[in-house]
Formats: sequence, C-alpha cells, structure tokens
Amino acid sequence: MKRTLALLALCCVWGAAATASAQPRITVQAGWPGAKIAPTMWGIFFEDINFGADGGLYAELIKNRSFEFPEGLMGWSKIAKTGSAGDIRVEEYPSNPGANAHFLRVQVEKAGQGFGISNEGFRGIGVQRSKLYRFTLRGRQTEGSPIVLRVEVVNADGRKLAEAKIGGFGDQWQKRTAWMQANTDEPKARLNIFFSGSGTIDLDMISLFPRDTWKNRENGLRADLVRMLADMKPGFLRFPGGCIVEGRNLEQRYQWKTTIGEPSERKLIINRWNTEFRHRLTPDYFQSFGLGFYEFFLLAEDIGAEPMPILNCGMACQFNTAELAPMEELGQYIQDALDLIEFANGPADSEWGRKRAEMGHPQPFGMKYLGVGNEQWGPQYIERYVPFAKAVKDKYPDIQLIAGCGSDATIFPNGPAEIAYLWEQWRKLDNVDIVDEHFYRQPDWFLENTDWYDDYPRTGPKLFVGEYAAQSRGVASPLNRNTLQCALYEAAFMIGMEHNADLVIMSCYAPLFGQADGWQWTPDMIWFDNLRVVGTCNYYVQKLFSLNRGDRVLPIQVTEAPKIDGDTQALQASSVYDETAKELILKVVNATGDAVETTVDIQGAAKVGSTAKVTTLRGESLQDVNTLDEPKRVAPIDSTQPVDSATFTYAFAPYSLTVLRLPVTQ
Ligand code: AHR
Repeated sequence: MKRTLALLALCCVWGAAATASAQPRITVQAGWPGAKIAPTMWGIFFEDINFGADGGLYAELIKNRSFEFPEGLMGWSKIAKTGSAGDIRVEEYPSNPGANAHFLRVQVEKAGQGFGISNEGFRGIGVQRSKLYRFTLRGRQTEGSPIVLRVEVVNADGRKLAEAKIGGFGDQWQKRTAWMQANTDEPKARLNIFFSGSGTIDLDMISLFPRDTWKNRENGLRADLVRMLADMKPGFLRFPGGCIVEGRNLEQRYQWKTTIGEPSERKLIINRWNTEFRHRLTPDYFQSFGLGFYEFFLLAEDIGAEPMPILNCGMACQFNTAELAPMEELGQYIQDALDLIEFANGPADSEWGRKRAEMGHPQPFGMKYLGVGNEQWGPQYIERYVPFAKAVKDKYPDIQLIAGCGSDATIFPNGPAEIAYLWEQWRKLDNVDIVDEHFYRQPDWFLENTDWYDDYPRTGPKLFVGEYAAQSRGVASPLNRNTLQCALYEAAFMIGMEHNADLVIMSCYAPLFGQADGWQWTPDMIWFDNLRVVGTCNYYVQKLFSLNRGDRVLPIQVTEAPKIDGDTQALQASSVYDETAKELILKVVNATGDAVETTVDIQGAAKVGSTAKVTTLRGESLQDVNTLDEPKRVAPIDSTQPVDSATFTYAFAPYSLTVLRLPVTQ
C-alpha cells in the first residue's frame, strides 16, 4: 500500500482510482517515462570468501605454490616409496625478506621406486580431457648428479592422467615450463613430482594453470566462472568485498598495493574467513593475491562493468577486533586511496600509472567509484571518513564516494539506532555521494518490503544496495539454501528498487561464489566445484534484471493483486522502457502457487507491437534449488506471446518471475 501511494506521488497521479475488477490488472503508462535507470543499477559483488579467489575464480590449481603458508608444507606431502630415501623441508631465502621468503629444499638420496612430493590442490585438482595445462616452477640444483623431475597428475587410485618431465637444472634459479595434456576428466586429482638422480634441488612457485583461462591469460581466471559473470552484463564489479576489506585486525586487512606486480612477490596473508565460523573452519584458506587489483580492473573491463574498489579506512572488522588506526596514522590509508586512483586512472608516466602500464595496461581503467570502508559504524567511522573523503575529493573531485551504513540492522549490535545515526551524519556531509545498505533477511521480509525505498528522502546521497540475499534459515546459517522462494522474493524487492530508480542507482547480491567443498557462508549466487559451475535461482533473477535493465522507469499500477499470508501482495510488477530496442519491459513476480490471469493494460503508447518476447523463470515448488548435478532445474525459458491490442490478458505462471518485452512506440 505504502508503495502504491508513493508511486502515485512520484510518478504524478495518472488516474488514482483502482479498477474494481476481480481479475488482477497491471496498468502501465507507456507515454510517461519517469526516472532514468542508472547503467550501474544491477552489478556484482566479488569477495574472496568460500574459496572465491584462490581455489575459485583464480585458475591456479596448486595450493601453497610458494611455500608461504605459515605451516610451510600445508597442501604438500612427501612421497617415499620402497627403496627411496630423502628429505623435504621449507627454507628461508637468506637474503630475501620480501613477500616470497621461502622455498622447498629437496634432498634426494635414493629415488628407489619413487621419491617425491604431492600437492592436493584446492579440495582436489580439476582437469579436463584433452585440455592442456601449463606447469611451471623455479628451480636450481646445488649439488649431486643431475636430477630429473617427472611431473604427473593422478586420480585417487594413482592412475596417471597427465605427465611431463623437466631436467637440466643449473645452480642458479631458473623458471621452467612444461605442458601437460589430460587424458580424462577428473575433479579431484593430485599433482605428484618424482625426483630421479640424487643430490639437492630447490624449488619455488610450483604452479599449474589450465591453458584455457579466461582470454588465455597466463596468470588467468577460470573461464567458465568468468563466463557466468560476463553473461550477466553487470553494471559494475565491486571488489574485494566485504569484510575481507577490513580484516579481523588491521594487519590482516586487504592492502591493494601488495596485490599487484609479479604474482610471486605478492605478500600472502591468512584469509579472514579461515577461522570465522566454527562450524566451517577452513584452516587452509589463505590469500595469495594471484587475483589482485590489476586482475580486478582487467576483469571489470572485460565484462563491461564499472570497477568499484572498496578500501579500508583505518578500521578492522567491528564484529571481530574492531581495531582502529589512530588518527595520526590515517595518512597511509588515505595515501593508499589516492595511489589507487592514480594506479587506475593516472597517465602511464605517473608513479602508479607506470606500474599499471608495466603490467600491460597503459590505458587508464577509468575508475569512477570508491568505497570508503565496508560495514563500518559509529562515531569512529565518521571521524575517519571525513579526512579520507576530503583528501580524495580535493585531488579527485569526480570520484564518487560510497559510504557504508553498517551491517544489516537485524544483525547489527544496536540495530536501527546505529543506522539512523549514520544516515544523520551522511546527510550532514557534502561529500557522500552514495550510501551502501545491506540486507540479509528472511525471504518473507523481501516480499513484504518492496516499498522499502518509497519514503526515503529524495535529496542527499543516492543508494547502493550493496549486499543482500534472502536467508532461508537465518543469517549465514550453514543450512541456508538458494531456493526459488528466496530468489523470487528478492526479485520482488528488486522490483521495488526499480520503482525507486531515481534514488537507488546500484545494487548487488552477496556473496557471489561458493565452492562446493570449501565454503564458509551460504547462500551464494554461483556454486562451483573443480570442474563444474551452477547458477542458482538467485543468479537467474539477477541476470534477468541486468539483461532487461531499460533506460526509463514507467509508472505502473497493480490492482486486485492476489495476497498471500494475510496481506502480502503476491503479484509484484515494474515496467521500464528500453530506448534503444524501443521496447517496453514488464517484470512480474507471481509468488502464488497458481497461474494468475492478469489484464495488462498499456496506456499512452502511440503503437504497440503484436508479439511479446517472454522469458519465464519458474519452478514447481518454492523450495526448488539448482545444484551441480541438476543445474537447470530452475532456468529461464524463452517464448513469444501474440498481443492483439494494448490491453491483453496474460497468465503469469505459478511461482515465477516473468520478463515480457513488447515493441512500443511512445
Ligand atoms: O557477504 C558476506 C559478508 O556479509 C560480507 O563480507 C560482509 O560485508 C557482510 O557482513
């Protein structure tokens, strides 16, 4: 109800009387284009949670490739078959206190029937039949008879799936490469390296990448996962999170400068999700930063998304240590932000622009947005935001700054009061362009609150719904599932965002990725294992909204809508106009279990086409989910619908999101 009133106010009253008809009616004013829809309206949120980067999007297949994990041999084991003798141990470079401080020393006394090392990958190593894999390492042999490495990928039974040999090591460090071709599909392989000869050999950066990464880049990303993102045509890419920006303490915060340059020189840190949840401890979760800020900017460029970095503003996660950088030390955080903007946008001969150019991208990335902190709150946040924002705006007035708004009020220490306090502050300042709100709530909340933004003031900062996802059980409960119900109710909420597109200019579901064996947080938009990927129902909702963004909101009224659970409107609709395609786009959520025969009335159009393109996302039950074994249980289905006049009847399928595109001349 609140929504209808606000809409009428917003869109000019165009005949407020609801039609008293038993059949639901959707009336769209095609001739009254309203607010512009920002190109950033539907975007994506990347965070290195759930093995999102290492073990996920980052295509490296070897865990702890440079022996920098605090337990130096984590992920590795020694192979000592009959008759063999030797030792392996992690050593420190005597003169290298940098990011890559360790290497593996292998002393081969007798090869016997096999002496070597084995890597378990990230819950296994995924290889695909006939595909090529690039094996690389750095090595030197300091003594003994020539040692030759036999590298093999094997399955759990020890069957060989791919093999290569490397020999001829000298006493100076040298990078070596060998190609391997897999003879079968295997999601849970291992990599073994056997040593023949005898003596001492030192190894480092032992790496295995598929050749077919996204765009075949050497330090590349998993092509199948990027494809899922590219197919969404997202308006922006938020990176790198999420709480990972903050760190459990400041030392473990995300520092972009340590994530660029040579991958071997990027300083590894523990992933903050490693120990976050007792029920999902992940002791082998670290951040190698192979997917760092340069790769982020490239990815955003590749998929046509605005890059949206979020930086730490001197505050560690307030759910953990809540450590604060003293105000006199804030300068380094601010400098990091200024340098990041130069790295992204500066000329190739500027200090940081040169580093970008040296990495292969002389052209600027054209970064426009910057998030200052993630889920921060309290006066300490304001205290830090103010000088941070001033310094950025003084030097780069065009950068749009995003301020946080704490966490979701329902899981927030002091609930709505904290959020109200933040909003009061943000409205007082003149350098907050966009405020980022988060919603992790039960599905019903999303359906019941499609009018959430209707009453927000129209002056002051714009809105970024920067993290949201319906939680089928409870916030971050390991029992949460990506049900159709969650997805449809989120779609209803997104319809509400679209009604408010004059205010809400960006939004994204969170988190993005979940590794089937290595996750900490659920639900997630895209699930994967070492070979497969599945888009959840939520993924398809996000994708349908993004592919059908449109340019202008059209006024819409829904009357005689069916109700569920007492008073909740179960038919939710929005409409936009696509100025390029000259199509009116209608998005409708039917949350009932029945088909809903509806009169669709397009008013004010000069001409309405005779065929509508229809895409329907529907299921048999609200509890339907897509899984890796059944990835398309709920997936969009395309059809066409003859339309004989500007007023027609359409039966919206049970439990569905329908996107209907109709040629319309305004
Ligand atoms: O999306 C998962 C986490 O939820 C994010 O890291 C954090 O910002 C939020 O609390």
